[in-house]
Order: sequence, then structure tokens, then C-alpha cells
Amino acid sequence: MTIRILVTGGAGFIGSHYVRTLLGPAGPADVAVTVLDKLTYAGNPVNLDEVRDHPGFAFVQGDICDAVLVDGLLAEHDQVVHFAAESHVDRSILGAGEFVRTNVLGTQTLLEAALRHGGSKSFVHISTDEVYGSIDFGSWPETDPLRPNSPYAASKAAGDLIALAHHRTHGLDVRVTRCSNNYGHHHFPEKVIPLFITNLLDGRKVPLYGDGGNVRDWLHIDDHVQGIELVRTRGRAGEVYNIGGGTELTNKELTALLLEACGAEWDSSVEYVTDRKGHDRRYSVDCAKIRDELGYEPRKDFATGLAETVTWYRENRAWWEPLRSARHSSAVSPPFERRTGAP
Ligand code: NAD
Ligand code: DAU
Repeated sequence: MTIRILVTGGAGFIGSHYVRTLLGPAGPADVAVTVLDKLTYAGNPVNLDEVRDHPGFAFVQGDICDAVLVDGLLAEHDQVVHFAAESHVDRSILGAGEFVRTNVLGTQTLLEAALRHGGSKSFVHISTDEVYGSIDFGSWPETDPLRPNSPYAASKAAGDLIALAHHRTHGLDVRVTRCSNNYGHHHFPEKVIPLFITNLLDGRKVPLYGDGGNVRDWLHIDDHVQGIELVRTRGRAGEVYNIGGGTELTNKELTALLLEACGAEWDSSVEYVTDRKGHDRRYSVDCAKIRDELGYEPRKDFATGLAETVTWYRENRAWWEPLRSARHSSAVSPPFERRTGAP
């Protein structure tokens, strides 16, 4: 029997990779996918070109906050994998309204529709490690309290908790994943890795926030998709699963690797700029649960994954150049100011 999966936010960076993988040659044979995506600045229909003609693929342009649309779609699907979100921390600092609307109200709209159509529907909610806050030493297990700092993280924490509440209160089969920083191809060039690569390929400087000592754990999108599939197919209802990549780097270390890959020099290419407001120092998830329970292990070595990513941006200017011009002419102004010299 074919499982009908509704993938929200499937035209974005991670969602589109998930859909391309599910409907690709190595994907499961028993699934059909409908993407529901509003096509905000971050959603790009081109990301789905590879699967557009697949007989099991359908696309609906729409808003997860549209209760009538969502109700109709939930009636026709067996599972939901919910990626749709406003995803960029800097934008949430400039204004949190869209973050609360999509990440909280949109999630609630989907959950209520799932509940109305009941049955054995499962709902995989894609959350983030940022809901835990910031940690100087050690790693968060799933049982740690949520202490989000940015408006983005707070809106994701609200969505995460309202999803879990629908399991505890109503028995809905909700599974939550909290993953670390993803990287790979088709990543919108506002996030640090694609922004720095595309700047360097254009011979521009890269803006390093603060002292460059903030730490992120990098997870390749292939490994994230692997983790989500384990949770969708074998995870337990009401459970939270951390998904990490196992490569922690300071932003300075990451920048040095990107400069090397793009053939650029530190002194002429790096510009220290004022720090992000409320900048989380370090994220680190403990992945023992998904490893021990579901057999998850990140497979992509970071050096290989980063080299492949740089090559993809080198060879796919037609994908990112229009997005960069849109970014520069948008109402979102850069959240930083230039500083001279190192901190
Ligand atoms: P993205 O910004 O690239 O894509 C988001 C997608 O959601 C876009 O296609 C956009 O058009 C769509 N969307 C936004 N608002 C919508 C609405 N109201 N209705 C329907 N569609 C809407 O994001 P991403 O980086 O692919 O992240 C996907 C999910 O993973 C998000 O929930 C994010 O919080 C989470 N996450 C991302 C990362 C990461 O490193 N990128 C890490 C952890 C968790
Ligand atoms: O940890 C998971 C999160 O990772 C996801 O939930 C978010 O959706 C995703 O955007 C990402 O959030 P970050 O804030 O960690 O990612 P970003 O790429 O914006 O920044 C990564 C680090 O790089 C962070 O310490 C800030 C720094 N940075 C970022 C930009 C855009 C810079 O130094 N300069 C920059 O220009």
C-alpha cells in the first residue's frame, strides 16, 4: 500500500532534499509525496525540478496557516513531515511576527487538522537544537529543559512543545526531531556557509560576527535525511530525537576552511563585524538516543561534504545568483556594522 506523505516546506533547503531523496532511486518504493509550500523568499520551485515528473509527486502552493486548505490536505494523507518555517535567526531579530505566525500558529493549524482526521496519522515535527539555548560544555540530551534565546528559537520551541502537547493530550502520533546546523547544496545564501562561499566566489569579503568563537555542530543534509527517515519509519510516538553531525567548529575554524576551499586569504577576505544580538555561543546535541534506539550514525565526513558543497556552488551560479540579488535588494537590511581590525 502506498503511504501518502504531506511534506510542508518541501521547496526549501532541507525539505526539498528530503523529497528528492524519498522520490529518488534509493528512496522507499511505497510512498507518494505532496509538497505544501507557500514559496516565501526561501522556497524555490527549482529545488523540486528533479522530481516534478515523478508519478508520486504533487505540489500545492499554500500557507500552513490556511486552515481550510490544510484540513483538506490532511484528509488525503497518512503522514506529515513538517519542515515549513521561517528559519533565519537574523531575520527574527529584525522582526518576529512572521516567525510566530508560521512556526507557532502554522504548526498548530497542521496539528489540529491531523487530529480531526485522526486514524493512524503520524506527524514528524522538524524542530532544532536551538530550542535548548546555548551550552558552554557538554551536550544536551532530549530531556534537558528548553531555554531558547532568539525569537526564531523561541518560536520553534513553542511549535515543538505544542506538537508534543498534542501527543500527551490527544494521543496524536507526534515525533519530534531536534537537529544541528545543516549544510549542503541548495542552501539559501543568507546562512553562513552558502553566504561565505558565494561571497568568496565573487571576490567579496565575508562578515564574521563578534570574535568568531561561536561554535556550531555541522550536519550534512544526507545525514539529516537519514535521521528523519529513521524517525518517520521506526521512531516512537511522543518521543524527541536529537540529530547531530559530530563536527563542532568555531566560526573562525569554519571560515578558514572555506577560505582554503575557495583559494582566498584571511587578511584580504575576512571582515569582523558587530556581533549578532543575543548570539548563542555554542550548540551541541547528545545523539545517544537516536544512535542506540534507531541505529543512526552520521556518514558524511565534513571535509568531503564541505568540498562537495563548494564545488556545487561553483558549478551552479544560475541557482544562487538570482537569490543573492533578491537578498541585496530586499527590505531586510544587514544586521551588522563593519568593525575595523580583529576583536
Ligand atoms: P528554509 O528557510 O530553507 O525553508 C523553509 C520552507 O518553508 C521554504 O520553502 C518556505 O517557502 C516554506 N514556508 C515558510 N513559511 C511557510 C508557510 N507559512 N506555509 C508554507 N510554507 C512555508 O528552511 P530549512 O533550512 O530548509 O529548514 C527546514 C526546517 O528545519 C525548519 O523547520 C527549520 O527550523 C529546521 N531546521 C533547520 C536547520 C538548518 O540548519 N537549516 C537546522 C535545524 C532545524
Ligand atoms: O542549529 C540549528 C539552526 O542552524 C537552525 O535551526 C536554523 O534554521 C539555521 O539557520 C541555523 O542557525 P544559525 O544561526 O546557527 O545559522 P547561521 O548560518 O545564521 O549562523 C551560523 C553561525 O555563523 C552563527 O554563529 C552566526 C555566524 N554568522 C552568520 C552569518 C549569516 C557569521 O559570523 N556571519 C554571518 O554573516
